[in-house]
Amino acid sequence: MSTTVFTNPRAKHGFQGRSCSIASVGSYVPEKILTNADLEKVVDTSDEWIFTRTGIKSRRIAAEAEFTSDMAAKAAQRAMDRAGITADQIDLIIVATITPDMLFPATACLVQAKLGARRSAAFDIEAACSGFLYAMEIGQQFIMSRTYETVLVIGAERLSSIVNWKDRNTCVLFGDGAGAAILQHRPDAHGLLTACMGADGHKAMLLCMPGGGSRIPATADSVEAGLHHLQMDGKETFKSAVTAMYSAAQEAMRRCEIDISKIKLVIPHQANRRIIDAVGDRLGAKPEQIFVNLDKYGNTSAASVAIALDEAVTQNRLDRGDLVLLVVFGAGLTWAAAVIEW
Ligand SMILES: CC(C)(COP(=O)(O)OP(=O)(O)OC[C@H]1O[C@@H](n2cnc3c(N)ncnc32)[C@H](O)[C@@H]1OP(=O)(O)O)[C@@H](O)C(=O)NCCC(=O)NCCS
Repeated sequence: MSTTVFTNPRAKHGFQGRSCSIASVGSYVPEKILTNADLEKVVDTSDEWIFTRTGIKSRRIAAEAEFTSDMAAKAAQRAMDRAGITADQIDLIIVATITPDMLFPATACLVQAKLGARRSAAFDIEAACSGFLYAMEIGQQFIMSRTYETVLVIGAERLSSIVNWKDRNTCVLFGDGAGAAILQHRPDAHGLLTACMGADGHKAMLLCMPGGGSRIPATADSVEAGLHHLQMDGKETFKSAVTAMYSAAQEAMRRCEIDISKIKLVIPHQANRRIIDAVGDRLGAKPEQIFVNLDKYGNTSAASVAIALDEAVTQNRLDRGDLVLLVVFGAGLTWAAAVIEW
């Protein structure tokens, strides 16, 4: 456990707010496992190519009638059970996703109904793979300002529904799942110390799904042209990811006046092992400081760091008081890094 070795950036400048901590986390992944060997039967690829280029061995695929809101609700229920939180205690539900059950209403409203959280407000946010950290930073504002006591933040995705299963460049990378966190004030903890969020809309088309919105509503032609599938320029996305994740992580640590040696665990967005290694190297992190589970799940977008955080906690990789660095990157482009006193 770390002693207090950091500055709480939120406590500067006569700040009157209260701290926001993660009371508990939970995650859910579907039962069905799709291995690289399975994908060899679907597209022209190989286990060797996928593993050496990405670090992925398998991913989870939602059942036919299992939707983003179902996975989100299951992850949330696990987090609630761990913290002993009942549905009527939840003031706000924020779901981060790029694969909502429907364009509207918000998936958060469907989750609210599934949990029976009748008192809570509910809305979705969309920051692609950065969504969970963006959502957490939004949620913590309500705790900090004393507006709410309990905020439920969820990252959930059913990416299998937007992946083009004929495109080997993308279909091998993604998977389904959900992760959740309960945010509350804990008097003895600094909690979410800082979150640096960024975006570059000039690179929006590097990673996108062109169809289905108001620009290209669904038509027989748009479906035929494959515009309702995820599209990506992998090489450019890769380069932007490394630079943005490194810069955001450095800035988050600078704000807390710490260096990487004070971080117990770095939990990066799980997109590609080579991105994780490049960011880790630049930060000067030791291999044992970096949490990796993308071999099992691939890239689950907004769910990714949430699932990883839950697994890190379940595996006893974190004690209360440890400093955690979460760092994410995604379509938008968007990125974020957060330092948390666990
Ligand atoms: C997608 C990615 C793994 C590709 O790796 P890469 O080293 O850049 O590979 P390249 O784009 O140079 O492709 C090399 C070759 O492999 C081929 N290839 C692509 N996918 C393949 C697959 N699944 N199996 C076999 N070959 C494949 C390409 O067609 C290309 O062949 P060519 O040279 O004959 O045209 C990598 O660019 C990446 O991870 N980018 C970031 C993606 C990401 O994280 N996105 C989400 C951000 S949140």
